Amino acid sequence: MLRSVIAGSGSAIAPHRVTNDMLARIMDTSDAWIRERTGVETRYYVEPGTRTTDLGVIAAERALEMAGVAREDIDLVVFATMTPDQYFPGCGGLLQSRLGLRPVPAFDIRQQCSGFLYGLQLVDAHIRAGLARTALLVGAEIHSGFMPWGPGSWARLAGDVEAPLEPGEWETTTSVRHLTVLFGDAGGAVVITAADDGSRGVVDQALYADGTDAAKLCVPGNGFARRPYVDPEQIRRLEHVPVMDGRYVFKMATTRMTEAARALLERNGLTPGDLKLVLMHQANLRINEFVQRSLGLSDAQVCHNIQRYGNTTAATVPLLWDECVRGGRIEPGDAVLMVAFGAGMTWGATLVRA
Ligand code: UT7
Repeated sequence: MLRSVIAGSGSAIAPHRVTNDMLARIMDTSDAWIRERTGVETRYYVEPGTRTTDLGVIAAERALEMAGVAREDIDLVVFATMTPDQYFPGCGGLLQSRLGLRPVPAFDIRQQCSGFLYGLQLVDAHIRAGLARTALLVGAEIHSGFMPWGPGSWARLAGDVEAPLEPGEWETTTSVRHLTVLFGDAGGAVVITAADDGSRGVVDQALYADGTDAAKLCVPGNGFARRPYVDPEQIRRLEHVPVMDGRYVFKMATTRMTEAARALLERNGLTPGDLKLVLMHQANLRINEFVQRSLGLSDAQVCHNIQRYGNTTAATVPLLWDECVRGGRIEPGDAVLMVAFGAGMTWGATLVRA
């Protein structure tokens, strides 16, 4: 039976490191609050003008290098992102061209924080169906574009201006502080190859979506329910910034990630103790600690990097995978479970033999 093996991985971290204290210069927040409630200590932002595809290209080049795969061998591209370079066309085709790949099928998919897991299933289905043999799967995001901060805020964030922020702007930045402090910019990529050896590869996946409560985490503006789809009034009302019912999302994330992990393990005759490592989407360290306790996982079985990067949406799981492989925490044959929950609502779990 054909299996989809993750043959190489790579990451791209944005250049500008932003600490919690730096954020406290431009909104009513503190390092203590952010650490205690989320676990985030730093996140990284790109230079203005950097595109999501740029991060994807860097991560993909590193993944190709690790896999030892030539560009002409790639026969499928899947790009997971909710922050594309532009409305259309999507990042997949742009990445295909930037990397000099053959004109192979290229998909963009929009499953937000579950995007990497959905992408893995799409690639795995192509490989099992004989439609692809060597695929590139990318998850990349530039969230800094969501920040509704004017030039004065950016200058203070960078420490270029010391005078306090004008009160109106302080009020605006503070009104979305529960959201903005969480996110960072990054890209992750994996090369996935078809293998006949059943001992390695994607074993099984359980993915879910339920749009009933989509409005609890969404971007309310800039869509084609409006005419025109974007205008200055929508921006003035901050409708280009995601809205998030944090408590609701927190509760659903802990419940759904635990359920999906249990369901997948059970139908594969495994228990949490059989896993080498569990890679959870990095939205909030407290969410993941809760899931760890619910599943009865030891500290050695989980790995987090939200402290350094914040929530990077579709990039979190490939970033973790890449760090763990390069750090020797994942070795060929290890049973690894990936779990994610995000806007949509979408969620799921993927079981892989590394
Ligand atoms: O990838 C999926 C996307 N997102 C998530 O998974 C996020 C899930 N949710 C969460 O991570 C948490 O709900 C948050 C981190 C967003 C918020 O933490 P919380 O413990 O649920 O706080 P809260 O929203 O209940 O707010 C508690 C207080 C409020 O003040 P009052 O009303 O008690 O005076 C907030 O205004 O904390 C205040 N607050 C902040 N204070 C300082 C909210 N954000 C901040 C902040 N700094 N950044």
